[in-house]
Amino acid sequence: MSYKARSALIILILGICFDINLSSQELSFQGNDIEESGAPNVKPTLLTGEQLYTACSGCHSISVDGAHRVGPNLYGINQQPAASRQGVAYSDALTATKIVWDRPALIGWVLSAEAMVPNTWMLYHNHLSPIEAERLVDYIISASD
Ligand code: HEC
Repeated sequence: MSYKARSALIILILGICFDINLSSQELSFQGNDIEESGAPNVKPTLLTGEQLYTACSGCHSISVDGAHRVGPNLYGINQQPAASRQGVAYSDALTATKIVWDRPALIGWVLSAEAMVPNTWMLYHNHLSPIEAERLVDYIISASD
C-alpha cells in the first residue's frame, strides 16, 4: 500500500473512532431529579463547545504553540487563509481553495468538510446539529483570544 493510501486509511480509522466517541457523549444525560409529582425529570445534556472539541482534539491541538497532529494546530485559525500553516502537508484540494476561515466557513467545514472541499484529507464525519456546529466554532474562535 502506498504511503498516501496508508495515511488516508489511518485518518479514516481515527475519524471513525472520534465519531463513535462523540455519539456516545451525546447519549449522556444529566441529573435525575425527581419532581414533586414523582415524575422523573431527565434532561439531555447540551455539550459545550469545549466538550464538542474533543471530537477534533485527537487530530488538532488548539493551544498557542501546540504541535501539528494528523491535522494542523488550530490556534488563531479565524480570519486566516486555508492551508496556510507552516510545516503542514496539506491536500492539493485544500491548498487550491481560496477559503479564508471565518465563522460561517468554519461552521460549513465542521458540518461537512468533504462537501466544502471535495478530496480534502480531513476524512471526518459527524452528526453535529447546526447549533452544535456553531457552539463548537465559537469555542475555536474564543480559544484563540
Ligand atoms: C482524523 C483526523 C481529523 C479530525 C478528527 C479532524 N480533523 Fe480537521 N483536519 C485534518 C486534516 C488531515 C486536515 C488537513 C486537510 C487537507 O489538507 O485537505 C484538517 C484540516 C482542518 C482545518 C483547516 C486547517 C487549515 O490550516 O486550513 C480545520 C479548520 C479543521 N481541520 C477543523 C477541524 C475541526 C473543528 C474538527 C472537529 C470537528 C476536526 N477538524 C476534526 C484531520 C482531522
